[in-house]
Amino acid sequence: MSGLIKISPSILSADFSKLGEEISALDKAGADYIHIDVMDGHFVPNLTIGPEVIKRLRPITKKVFDVHLMISPVDNFIKDFSDAGSDIITFHPEATKDVRNTIKLIKKEGKKVGISLKPKSKIDLIEKYIEEVDLILVMSVEPGFAGQKFMPEVLDKTKKIRELINSKNLKTEIEIDGGINFENCNEAKKAGANVLVSGSTIFKENQGNLEKNIGILRKN
Ligand code: DX5
Ligand code: ZN
Repeated sequence: MSGLIKISPSILSADFSKLGEEISALDKAGADYIHIDVMDGHFVPNLTIGPEVIKRLRPITKKVFDVHLMISPVDNFIKDFSDAGSDIITFHPEATKDVRNTIKLIKKEGKKVGISLKPKSKIDLIEKYIEEVDLILVMSVEPGFAGQKFMPEVLDKTKKIRELINSKNLKTEIEIDGGINFENCNEAKKAGANVLVSGSTIFKENQGNLEKNIGILRKN
């Protein structure tokens, strides 16, 4: 286990006709972060929301906006997502020509940097940047859609990342994203994840009782 567990509900499973109310409800229900999935129909086969929507949601809560960019090329949009009020900006190394430059662009905006590994992406892809980022996002489904099945094969990679971070005495957070439910959340924590993203489980279990679902994920 890795100390305090944070829960980052993904608004991809929220009711988009009332996103503001949904975010306010997540805030009251005890979410630590608000996970915002940005998709471009190119890097992933789905389209979601852009900076304008994030900007409109920003005044609703003081919680950390944990923005997961699944867009390519990513660099041209960093400033827009920063100005919109993102706190953590996470990108995929495959979505940029120069990972170090993208990290630099996010830092220049004064934001926290996250870097994400798809289920099949190897640690080698990010290892040399580990000291420069605040968060590593391990995808436990292929990015693109909510409600997919958790891929247990990423647990081993999560463990290795945790070992790497601990061996270097870093404070880097490890976030796991995709198919997290009441059964597998404990394995994810044991593997070393300290931030759990969840869309379907938080919005659909127990008749959508957000507070209860966040509580179970945190404590299970
Ligand atoms: C998938 C997204 C996830 C996803 C989580 O591309 O990055 O954040 O929406 O939803 P669940 O918890 O339903 O897998
Ligand atoms: Zn995500």
